[in-house]
Amino acid sequence: MDINKYTPKFRLKNTDLLHLADLTSEEIFELLYAARSMKKKYKVGENISILRGKTVGLLFGNVSTRTRVSFELGIRQLGGDFIFLPKNETQLSRGESVKDTAAMLGRYGLSALVLRGFNDEELEEFAAVCDIPVINGISDTSHPLQVLSDLYTVWEKKGGLENLKLAYIGDGNNVANSLIIGCTKCDMNIAIASPNGYSPARSIVERGMQYGDILITDSVSEAVRDADVVYTDVFISMNDEDDEKKKIKLEKYRVTKEVMSLAKEDALFMHCMPVRRGEEVTAEVADGPQSIMYDQAENRLHLNKAALSLLMMNEK
Ligand code: CP
Repeated sequence: MDINKYTPKFRLKNTDLLHLADLTSEEIFELLYAARSMKKKYKVGENISILRGKTVGLLFGNVSTRTRVSFELGIRQLGGDFIFLPKNETQLSRGESVKDTAAMLGRYGLSALVLRGFNDEELEEFAAVCDIPVINGISDTSHPLQVLSDLYTVWEKKGGLENLKLAYIGDGNNVANSLIIGCTKCDMNIAIASPNGYSPARSIVERGMQYGDILITDSVSEAVRDADVVYTDVFISMNDEDDEKKKIKLEKYRVTKEVMSLAKEDALFMHCMPVRRGEEVTAEVADGPQSIMYDQAENRLHLNKAALSLLMMNEK
């Protein structure tokens, strides 16, 4: 479906946002339209106070720049308040159960909970026990808010999504997983080039194939041929820092000027950041005219505000 032919209702059925696989294409469009509206209002200085009197918990199990800052400032811009809870400063770090933590947080008056650095089982448990919206700010298998923001950024830059080709080069990690689901649900074509043993999980690829075509290859040139967007992420994700073998295998998957020249002439370069220039991408590409990575990072603010507003409208 063409996003430009979709009429938004600015409503979501869901009360949690754990993975893109849980959202329909229409729900993804709702979030993208809401992000566009948030950005327009922000740019003209229009105040929106839909979170007035509400407090959002940010329970983070790993470090963050973009996710944390875009949520903290986004919540303030919507008139709300937040509590930042580093996981290692809570009793979770001493073995308190997710069930007990989740059951109690809503009772103190939190209106939503953003979790970062939890596994899928823990996310499900938080969502099942908490009577407030639970949002996945990154897990080992997915990064839904990042990819929603990326889809919004592509729409903003290219004027549409349908039939565009995105080539992801590198490690088949949580970002690659969410790109597979997000792109196919928006009728984009996606190609993933990863070295043998580092492709995205079979279960994710099979899930994505229910919605659209996916090319999985070990050839960078095959993946980027005719691509409208070339995307990469760090070779080594958080918690994987000692994986030297993986780094060596990924050496040939660096996005260079030569790689970009195999894509369409007007192809965009995307990266969810943080960037390691000289590893997964050359500085020439990351800082070059095709790069839109700062726009992606900026749009996290508007997308997070959109997600909070739509999710918190519903009673759980
Ligand atoms: N892309 C992303 O999630 O950035 P942070 O790790 O800085 O939050």
